Amino acid sequence: MKETISVLIPERDVKKRVEELAGEITDSFGGEQITMVCVLKGAAILAMDLARELKQNVEFDFVELSSYFDGTESSGRVEIKKDISTDIKGKNVLVVEDIIDSGRTMDFLLDSLRKREPKSLKLCSLLDKPERRKFDVKADFNGFEIPDEFVIGYGLDYAQKYRNLPFIGVLNIEK
Ligand code: IMP
Ligand code: MG
Repeated sequence: MKETISVLIPERDVKKRVEELAGEITDSFGGEQITMVCVLKGAAILAMDLARELKQNVEFDFVELSSYFDGTESSGRVEIKKDISTDIKGKNVLVVEDIIDSGRTMDFLLDSLRKREPKSLKLCSLLDKPERRKFDVKADFNGFEIPDEFVIGYGLDYAQKYRNLPFIGVLNIEK
């Protein structure tokens, strides 16, 4: 099987959009401290790039979920593999995710976090595939809407590969 990549969103466009998102986020939290919940592993690059652009203090935490298992098919259920270690009660929480596809993963995570009574809970996602939505999830801050293609790069993987590419690419697998 041969894997080929075509550029969907070039590096400079990703960088510019992340800076814009940081501006929107800074304004929306009115200078108050943010507890950033980065969804591992895909959102790690976005979260760290965003954090450096935010003007207020940012507390970091990380959650790891599973919904896709080393492939392009959703398994249909979500589990917390690694939970956050912060007590988020009364805090301004910003979940940072790489992509919203069916919405199943974020529907599950936002529900779980909401039960812990944060002061506010917002979602930032780099990418959104609205055509694929099955659960009613909408990002408060969204980088790009993309068509229904499997994408990699800037944190996103295919079987743990391609995360470190600085651009977003469409992956084609020729059999
Ligand atoms: P959802 O639960 O269907 O919304 O799927 C969201 C998760 O699936 C994301 O956090 C990604 O890890 C993964 N995912 C969905 N689409 C893609 C893609 O095009 N490339 C890489 N990972 C994807
Ligand atoms: Mg993910």
